[in-house]
Amino acid sequence: MCLYLAACSSAPQTLYDASSLPAGALGREIRYGRELVMNTRALLPHDVRSRMDCAACHIDGGTQAHGLSFVGTYASFPQWNARAHRVIALQDRIAECFLYSMNGKPPAYSSREMVAIVAYIAWLSRGTPTLLKPQAQSLGIPLPSATPSIAEGRVLYGQRCSACHGANGAGGGPFPPLWGAASFNAGAGMAHLDRMTGFIYYNMPQNAPRTLAPREAYDVAAFVLSHARPRFERNARIVSPAQAAGYF
Ligand code: HEC
Ligand code: HEC
Repeated sequence: MCLYLAACSSAPQTLYDASSLPAGALGREIRYGRELVMNTRALLPHDVRSRMDCAACHIDGGTQAHGLSFVGTYASFPQWNARAHRVIALQDRIAECFLYSMNGKPPAYSSREMVAIVAYIAWLSRGTPTLLKPQAQSLGIPLPSATPSIAEGRVLYGQRCSACHGANGAGGGPFPPLWGAASFNAGAGMAHLDRMTGFIYYNMPQNAPRTLAPREAYDVAAFVLSHARPRFERNARIVSPAQAAGYF
């Protein structure tokens, strides 16, 4: 069933087309939001410590089905968050990816940067009824029940992954690190075996996606996650300075 525009196969598939942005300041900020998602490290060097951009995981800036798409994301907040044990806003969810996936700190919630990222995600979500979790984002695949084989994963990694991500998992150039000091930290969603398995199954190898069986994606994810990565430092790096009333 086709519940919202972006999920309808007959609908135009262009999810982000700069020429269709609204004119004026709003369109400019949506475009800036996409630039921040694509080039996070370069634009926010003080907020990002991993050698990753949001688009390392949110493929093509969150426009690909099963590639951690942002389509409909704006409409599914506020939402209950089991980790924080409270209802969170979209800014809080973006902050989580800054803290864990980028191993950094989030920009202030009312900063131009945070608002631009929200505006971009809102634009990708246009037409989606609120409080409806979109399926396009799901990484869910039935996991093989047996314990994954790290040994099999190591062999596959050498055959299918290391050419881009490096034998030591550190990536390089346009290829993001999979483990080690420059990767996402242990608190990240991608550090969970189920989510990384789904991500790899749907999106990797990047030059030949969907050529791994679920079992192979499971083994190679287990191999990747068997390596060390930064720990999340719970040291309150969130900054949200009070606004001067004059702003309003
Ligand atoms: C290392 C991979 C990775 C990176 C880098 C990353 N994310 Fe994520 N992000 C994820 C995963 C995985 C999820 C889904 C998490 C889950 O299901 O627990 C997610 C979820 C989200 C969500 C919620 C989506 C929804 O529909 O509920 C938002 C918003 C988000 N990320 C924004 C960002 C932004 C903005 C950045 C860059 C500052 C970023 N992410 C960087 C992996 C990443
Ligand atoms: C042709 C180059 C290439 C190959 C081969 C490849 N990747 Fe990737 N990988 C990328 C790129 C580029 C990205 C960033 C997202 C994008 O642009 O598609 C990425 C992103 C990722 C990510 C999320 C970001 C991160 O750093 O954690 C994971 C996990 C991943 N790849 C795992 C794998 C695994 C496992 C294999 C082998 C099965 C593999 N990749 C093979 C190029 C490649």
